[in-house]
Amino acid sequence: DRSLKIAPSILSADFADFGREIRAIEAEGADWVHVDVMDGHFVPNLTFGPPAVKAFRKHVTTVMDVHLMIAPVDPYIDAYAEAGADILTAHVEAGPHIHRTLQAIRAAGMKAGVALNPGTPAEAVAHLLDLADLVCVMTVNPGFGGQKFIDLTGKIRRLREMIGDRPIHIQVDGGVDPVTAPLVVEAGADVLVAGSAVFRGGSVEKSTVYGANMRAI
Ligand code: DX5
Ligand code: ZN
Repeated sequence: DRSLKIAPSILSADFADFGREIRAIEAEGADWVHVDVMDGHFVPNLTFGPPAVKAFRKHVTTVMDVHLMIAPVDPYIDAYAEAGADILTAHVEAGPHIHRTLQAIRAAGMKAGVALNPGTPAEAVAHLLDLADLVCVMTVNPGFGGQKFIDLTGKIRRLREMIGDRPIHIQVDGGVDPVTAPLVVEAGADVLVAGSAVFRGGSVEKSTVYGANMRAI
């Protein structure tokens, strides 16, 4: 299904109130919930691990999309399956055996995603397309929300050509807002991750504000 989907990143949510934040975005039409897992090693920031992700699962009624910015990945795949991830995405840069990692993610019963840092060419996934359900194009250097969008529309277009008729999502993650979203959609993206653009300004009537922010994207 290549209809446009929005996946708010709870990296920009209120960390003391995840249940409420997840319910608020889903009530306003979020298609997926994007969960950014960082290890302070693959990226220079730390977020949450399997027990927290398992707690989020109780509130997610759509699709829990877990983006691993960790290395290594393989020792943790079963823990994220057990935590209830529907989609588990690993970076092609996270280790020498991404092919094995994607096989293991599917074997654990999840959809498999493969993410590309801004400096990594589309061709890095050329031999992985039969193992992937999603390709995530990072349009910021991963680690933090609220960074400036890097224009990689040429890479998105190239991936769209490479993917052809295969049922693989192209997800764009980083700096997606009402200005940049149309550019990446035009280039072929069908899943938009947005953190700061969705969660900004939500201190009073959260769900209403988030809904307006999502519709603006
Ligand atoms: C960045 C994360 C993103 C991040 C996006 O390392 O992978 O998912 O939350 O945040 P914004 O939309 O604010 O760029
Ligand atoms: Zn992400």
